[in-house]
Amino acid sequence: MTTTPLAGRTTAVAARATELSKVYGQGETQVVALDRVSVDFRQAEFTAIMGPSGSGKSTLMHCVAGLDTFSSGSVRIGETELGSLKDKQLTKLRRDKIGFIFQAFNLLPTLTALENITLPMDIAGRKADKAWLDTVIKMIGLADRLGHRPSQLSGGQQQRVAVARALASRPDIIFGDEPTGNLDSRSGAEVLGFLRNSVRELGQTVVMVTHDPVAAAYADRVVFLADGRIVDEVYEPTADSVLDRMRNLPGGNPQTPEFDGKGRTS
Ligand SMILES: Nc1ncnc2c1ncn2[C@@H]1O[C@H](COP(=O)(O)OP(=O)(O)OP(=O)(O)O)[C@@H](O)[C@H]1O
Ligand SMILES: [Mg+2]
Repeated sequence: MTTTPLAGRTTAVAARATELSKVYGQGETQVVALDRVSVDFRQAEFTAIMGPSGSGKSTLMHCVAGLDTFSSGSVRIGETELGSLKDKQLTKLRRDKIGFIFQAFNLLPTLTALENITLPMDIAGRKADKAWLDTVIKMIGLADRLGHRPSQLSGGQQQRVAVARALASRPDIIFGDEPTGNLDSRSGAEVLGFLRNSVRELGQTVVMVTHDPVAAAYADRVVFLADGRIVDEVYEPTADSVLDRMRNLPGGNPQTPEFDGKGRTS
């Protein structure tokens, strides 16, 4: 385990949050979901975000991905400050530069796997790069399933389609909120392997929220949140080193019900 960025990796920043705060509600019901968070997500790096339930993981991801507004601070994707964009420009940036993988796949049931994969590009009126698409489909191992509809695919295969869809347009950065949260451990391991390969072999940038130390160990780096703040960071994580850090987080004892319900620790 090291505490410095991996040697030899590019230091170009794919996304950056600076002093980012997000406050929900007002007065007595006010919740500070993010409290002056500063973090870089470097190009071709796989980052996992961990922390207890309610620590602000999804909020951080949604704010950095331009899916939610923030109260103060700034976010940039590449060289673009999100705060400087009008709604239309933000929608365009999300469409062109960012890929999403959600826990509930979000596949359209009436479309085939291939149609689901190319849907975002079809909507944007962009042609898929055929060679790239073939590379992604091959890597995800879906070549013989492309004509199937989601209902004809297993949960793991559906999530692989969702990963392929996120990769297909070569976004600058891919965000996943517990992308393997509802998969069995074997399918989860496959999807995580593809995400890691997309970083190692294709230079993709990936940011993933997870409760699972085993899933986090696929990443190059784990960032820990507690009470809306970044409280720790590990490079080259192992499941053990991640568990160890989690035990020391405020409110982050893995024996608490939040972790029993959602984490897969074996
Ligand atoms: N729309 C909202 N309105 C009010 N409070 C919210 C809203 N969304 C989130 N919060 C609060 O902000 C805090 C951070 O929530 P967030 O969803 O980011 O947590 P999380 O770390 O993703 O948790 P989990 O692991 O349970 O998904 C929590 O206290 C939550 O209750
Ligand atoms: Mg969440």
